[in-house]
Amino acid sequence: MIYLDNNATTRTDPRVEERMSVCNALAWANPSSLHAAGRRARQTVDQARAELASLIGAEPEEIVFTSGGTESLNTALHSAITSFPDWQRLVITATEHSATSGPCALWERRGLEVVRIPVDRDGLPDLDAFSKAVTERPSIASIIWANNETGVINPMPEIASRAHEAGALLITDAVQAVGKIPVDVSAIPVSMLALSAHKFHGPKGCGALYVNRRLRFHSLLHGGGQEAGRRSGTENVPGIAGLGCAASLPMTLPDPGLTARRDWFETEVIRRHPRAVIHGHRAPRLPNTTNIAFPGFDAEAILILLDQAGICASPGSACGSAARNPSPVLTAMGLSAEEVKASVRFSLGRETTEGELATVLDELDRTLVRLASLQPAGGGPVIRRSVP
Ligand SMILES: Cc1ncc(COP(=O)(O)O)c(C=O)c1O
Repeated sequence: MIYLDNNATTRTDPRVEERMSVCNALAWANPSSLHAAGRRARQTVDQARAELASLIGAEPEEIVFTSGGTESLNTALHSAITSFPDWQRLVITATEHSATSGPCALWERRGLEVVRIPVDRDGLPDLDAFSKAVTERPSIASIIWANNETGVINPMPEIASRAHEAGALLITDAVQAVGKIPVDVSAIPVSMLALSAHKFHGPKGCGALYVNRRLRFHSLLHGGGQEAGRRSGTENVPGIAGLGCAASLPMTLPDPGLTARRDWFETEVIRRHPRAVIHGHRAPRLPNTTNIAFPGFDAEAILILLDQAGICASPGSACGSAARNPSPVLTAMGLSAEEVKASVRFSLGRETTEGELATVLDELDRTLVRLASLQPAGGGPVIRRSVP
């Protein structure tokens, strides 16, 4: 199997699995218990908190463990809106993940104003529109750091400085950024930041919310008062241990080798299929992501044939794919419904080799030839039939 769907989830690193199984064997007690077994579990949680804080330039007490990116973002929005009840404007981009756009739509139905900042053809937001929106009224902005479908990286230093200037509160969805590019909250001041372990070789169902220590905070989950009262519920100790381990894995960020392999793959796709279009290619992008339209083809058909050949890729966001809705991200970038339907996301991993990519390229050639042969005569895509 060749796995090119790392933005959906990554393979758990063996070192993470090892840390989690040690935790299950030795630190399985409730970290709120005061006895020795409880203290051992508490130590495990504290170690992971320090490891994660160090990865993103935070203080350990600024980390709140959650069940993942979705909970972190829902919590961040809930906390900001509850803490600043007079700030009734939410400012997001048109390319947020549904974990942000979903709760914002809910808050909109409850009476808050939601301003959706448009993006250009490369997926970059209109910064003047952003400044205007956050300056007009006291605002809570929630801006995705790096997009899950296209890999486009938003200009976070500029966004943070404009938000700061306007006195707006800034949340960021860094779920795809952490572990792929440097993310440092001591250099780029954001109020809250969401991340998720399974996107950087940690376990699923475990994430965190960074909360700046000077920020007023209102929790979403109430109960036993764990996480210093910020997130009730017995801690997922093995998951947290795995998250801490994933955060401390040696990584080169950004990974120049990975960028080179992705760029080579794109160059080859364009050489073999000159009508293919790479979305967001003029913008800064994550080193591992490429989202490519094959005009005249149906992405779903391409993906089925690739899957039969043992290649895993995806039509865009894994979360959206079950819903079969046209990608709101690509639509916001100005692509037609046809172009959106023809778009395939390949998200490489640290372990993806050039040999694997060469196999995918050949399989893609065969797939497109096969699909073209099924098109009605005279219609359908124009492609080169000689497979290089
Ligand atoms: C950009 C982005 N934000 C949020 C999420 C949600 O994270 P989780 O799956 O941990 O709930 C995802 C997951 O696909 C994502 O890619």
